[in-house]
Amino acid sequence: MQLEEKVLKTLVLNSERYVSNIELAKELGVAPSSIDEAVKRLELKGYVIENDSKLGYRLAIEDDLSLIKKFSMRLDTKIRYNFYYMKTCSSTQDVATSLALQGAEEGTIVIAEEMEQGRGRLRRKWIASSGGLWFSIVFTPRSVKNLQLLTLGIGIGVARGINKITGLDTKLKWPNDVLLNNKKVSGILIETKAGIDNKDYIIAGVGVNVNNILPPELTDYAISISMALGKKIPRIPVLISILEEIDKYYELLLTERHKELINDWKGMSDTINSEVEIIMDNERITGLAIDLSDDGALLVKTTDMKIHKIFYGDVIHLRRKSGNY
Ligand code: BTN
Repeated sequence: MQLEEKVLKTLVLNSERYVSNIELAKELGVAPSSIDEAVKRLELKGYVIENDSKLGYRLAIEDDLSLIKKFSMRLDTKIRYNFYYMKTCSSTQDVATSLALQGAEEGTIVIAEEMEQGRGRLRRKWIASSGGLWFSIVFTPRSVKNLQLLTLGIGIGVARGINKITGLDTKLKWPNDVLLNNKKVSGILIETKAGIDNKDYIIAGVGVNVNNILPPELTDYAISISMALGKKIPRIPVLISILEEIDKYYELLLTERHKELINDWKGMSDTINSEVEIIMDNERITGLAIDLSDDGALLVKTTDMKIHKIFYGDVIHLRRKSGNY
């Protein structure tokens, strides 16, 4: 991790107070002057960092997502993210889809503070109140041989992005949930649309519970970053961290480095080596999740020693590996 990333992480986790360059220097094991330089680099990237001559540095606490637009030109990513911010909308998926149909470029990203009709996988409702991160990215790859790998790639991007900026231990649940303390912190929805000139659009929707208040009926199996940290954190650095990681995994996909992607996914997986129940349309399977196939399907071994290749479905983690298989 570069020094400026470490400084940013410390400022994000302490955004309620000023942190002196001496304290930062001690914590990160470098000279105070290096901290000052790292802060300058962060400011060039677009972060607003207050500097009090006595107290030190503090990340501007205004948690206003519309400020994301000024990061458009400054992000060091291959994907050229172009931000559209909305205070509210039905679903960012709908807005991104209509922009795509009007010819929006890859990297177009629609972010809303709130959604009235947020949707999840399998036609479920996704509750998107103020304080979370709700966004949809338009992708227009010449060919994505496997959409499942894109889902997995975005999942790793989100999990690593959250981990990088907060230090929280995120895990992945097949096919597309990000977990924190065994509860869901983020979900991903991939939708495709055939556009003009036979061009296919992929709209990748990401929802991350950050500072939003979860309805009590969800808290048994969902969590927010602020619940895990015990305090609110500014969302823009979380968003940028996630977008930088998604960029890396999209690049792996485009350059067909699928093995790397699969291995990284397995490295963060909570599903592999768990006993799982898979719920499909008319079928349920219980077995041990043993591996991912090269195309991102889940391989599940049942007690009769058969191996099932699962392409979709709802997964319930029952317990870690037991002696039955
Ligand atoms: C799931 O876990 O079922 C997927 C949830 C996806 C939610 C995101 S929030 C941004 C985007 N807009 C939506 O309406 N849904 C996705």
